[in-house]
Amino acid sequence: MPTLTFLGHDAFLLEDETVRLVFDPFLKGNPAARLKPDEIRADYVLLTHGHGDHLGDGIEIARANDATVIAPFELATACGKRGCNVHAMHIGGAHHFPFGRVKLTIAHHGSGADLGGEALAYMGNPCGFLVTLGDKTVYHAGDTGLFLDMQLIGEMNAITVALLPIGDNFTMGIDDAVKACEFLKPQWVVPMHYNTFDVIAADPQSFKSKAEAKGCRVQVMAVGDTFSF
Ligand code: NI
Ligand code: MN
Repeated sequence: MPTLTFLGHDAFLLEDETVRLVFDPFLKGNPAARLKPDEIRADYVLLTHGHGDHLGDGIEIARANDATVIAPFELATACGKRGCNVHAMHIGGAHHFPFGRVKLTIAHHGSGADLGGEALAYMGNPCGFLVTLGDKTVYHAGDTGLFLDMQLIGEMNAITVALLPIGDNFTMGIDDAVKACEFLKPQWVVPMHYNTFDVIAADPQSFKSKAEAKGCRVQVMAVGDTFSF
């Protein structure tokens, strides 16, 4: 049975008996995070985009664990140049890994990375991830606004758990995330990307009650919580 552990912001550890995947491991500089990068054990590091609160400590964690970075091509290439094993993918593409299937979805957002130069470094398109382990599918939406293709994603994938941003300003806010639940029809929804910073303050209980009024089941996770599904 897979488990999801919330590490704060958009960072999650997804594990089963065979594999450990970490999404968007932003830990150093994340006021919500409790773990340090050297406390993460992972076989794969999945990165949705190049912003600092997603790329985070991904390169350091991938190198320390000899893990493979799975990311859109431009971001994967940049991680490869920095000593990581990488598996580049792109929007709409799926691949069967030893642990299961990964497919990249669109995300309406940016992906520039601050690598210390004057301008942000181009990292291609941001993405979301559909990860299937056995008969369970997790959708990590990444940072995105609401988009109608979520209907198609929901129609073509039996989503067990959808991880959706609710913090507004940079991504969907609560009402758009409720609409996303209606489109995606997951068994469970876990809100993310809120309250890490003042500008993305949002009440997950408000999201929960609004989504439940539309027939969605919501699991609000505190940092460190583990959810089995
Ligand atoms: Ni972002
Ligand atoms: Mn973000």
